[in-house]
Amino acid sequence: MRKMRVYIEAGSEAFLKRLADIFTAVAISSILAKGRFDVALSGGQTPRPLHRLLAISPYVGRIPWQKTRIFWVDERCVPEEDENSNYGNAKKDFLDRAPIPGRRMHPMDGTLPPETGAKAYERHLKSAFKGNGEKWPAFDLVLLGLGVDGHVASLFPQAEIREDESRWVIAVKGGMPRVDRLTMTLPVINHGKTVVFMVSGKTKAPVVKTVLEHRDKHLPAARVNPKNGRLLWVLDQEAASLIQTDTKIILNN
Ligand code: 6PG
Repeated sequence: MRKMRVYIEAGSEAFLKRLADIFTAVAISSILAKGRFDVALSGGQTPRPLHRLLAISPYVGRIPWQKTRIFWVDERCVPEEDENSNYGNAKKDFLDRAPIPGRRMHPMDGTLPPETGAKAYERHLKSAFKGNGEKWPAFDLVLLGLGVDGHVASLFPQAEIREDESRWVIAVKGGMPRVDRLTMTLPVINHGKTVVFMVSGKTKAPVVKTVLEHRDKHLPAARVNPKNGRLLWVLDQEAASLIQTDTKIILNN
């Protein structure tokens, strides 16, 4: 049975602390269980303060960075120096500041032609997870943002929702900025062991309600449903403001 939990935090400090605590706890428990922590990061603005928090005390000293491998859920097809590069921003925010060996970072290449980049990352994932005895990569932690239109990663509602299991990474166009993008597909996300939606701000309140209360399957975000893992939603009060009280109780039981 799917395990899901919704945390509603008062204020940005508590919101970020919740996320940083989840990151740290999953890192430590994964390393204790299998000697390694595999995390997939999303782009956009929401994760940026979290990334900056992970690079400072006490978190920077608690996370076993040497045993952490960092992957990306999606990327915009721009060079790393571009302000829209998810990898470039994560580097500025924490990867260049925390003691993470370069070989532990596994960015998507945003400079290749999109389809070539998608296939290259798919091959890269296959080789990085080879030997785990499973058909799919099982990320210990997948961090996701939520778009106001219900997109997740770079899987947009107006595009065909690819759930076929033949592709791990695809090239798509959409979102803002309107550039080509590379994105993991839903089956890869849904094989994550802990999958976390991070959502803050009033503008996201309507879509949070639609996804959590109505489970509208036209929205890619409503199709995030880890097969064997747990799904956590970390919301601030503004993002959670339209969810009915009854729903909040049901979601947390
Ligand atoms: C990206 C994303 C995307 C993002 C949402 C939310 O690279 O654009 O991974 O899915 O998480 O659009 O973005 P914000 O956090 O900026 O609202």
